[in-house]
Amino acid sequence: MNPMPVLLDCDPGHDDAIAILLALGSPHIDLLGITTTFGNCPVEKSTYNTQRILALAERSDVPVATGAAGPLAGEAHIGDYIHGATGIDGPDLPEPLAPQLSLEAVEFLRTSLLAAPAPVTVVAIGPITNIARLLRDHPGVGPKIAEVVFMGGSTERGNATPAAEFNTYADPEALDIVLTSGLPIRMVGLNLSHQALATPEIVERMRAMDHPVGRACADLMGFFGGTYSDVFDFAAPPVHDPCTIAALIDPGLIVWHKAFVAVETEGRWTRGATVVDLHDRLDEPPNAQVAITLDVEGYWDLVLDALDRVGS
Ligand code: BDR
Ligand code: CA
Repeated sequence: MNPMPVLLDCDPGHDDAIAILLALGSPHIDLLGITTTFGNCPVEKSTYNTQRILALAERSDVPVATGAAGPLAGEAHIGDYIHGATGIDGPDLPEPLAPQLSLEAVEFLRTSLLAAPAPVTVVAIGPITNIARLLRDHPGVGPKIAEVVFMGGSTERGNATPAAEFNTYADPEALDIVLTSGLPIRMVGLNLSHQALATPEIVERMRAMDHPVGRACADLMGFFGGTYSDVFDFAAPPVHDPCTIAALIDPGLIVWHKAFVAVETEGRWTRGATVVDLHDRLDEPPNAQVAITLDVEGYWDLVLDALDRVGS
């Protein structure tokens, strides 16, 4: 089977870094390029961090384009209280092997999609601003997108606020554009990613790989685990973003539920919260497949295999 062509939009970010490495390490994924956004850190740092993760994987062939510095409306929220001042505090990482593209992210996405021989899967694991700008300003690319898979929202509570998950809180107007685009959508929210915990046993398996990629991932999880313990009282950090890539590689790892999903753009206390109509109470047509349950063991086997492949 030919590998699936994928464009990845991200804000590394500890879990974004693992998602990038998972995509690089999977023979099922053809990573056409990476675009960056503000989110866990300012966008310039997202780009630099992406380039350093690619350098860790000794890959200089994956194009990187810088995107949004802030949301469609309002001010940029930055997740440094979880990801540290650099966005990926913890490991020592190599310097970039290749420069970023001179093209801006939306232009890179547009030209890549138009040039692709077949529809491409778009994965968004930060605030979804770049994808919204693409769809708003270039609606003609729609038929070239196979589906949009995003990490964000929840069927339950939030983390940026009690109601809203970080990525959806950071740019609700952008998510609204994506959710109402009519494109096939898969949503991987906190209700799913909180099942993907990097327990001490998982971190030990990373470190035991005994190569720079395994050690860097273990160090990433060390810092991430510390802030998740301090801020949210979690015993182990939830590794959110790679769940999207895992869903592409093996959709059977996740139980999905087709539902109507909307995002709150008005609420006084609930701005950025996703409304997921699991029991069809709103009588609205479903617009997304929503991730519900994760095969945790299968997920970690898949992720750790890929990380080891990248590092070996
Ligand atoms: C999401 O926000 C960021 O902290 C993570 O990278 C993930 O994309 C989880 O709420
Ligand atoms: Ca992210």
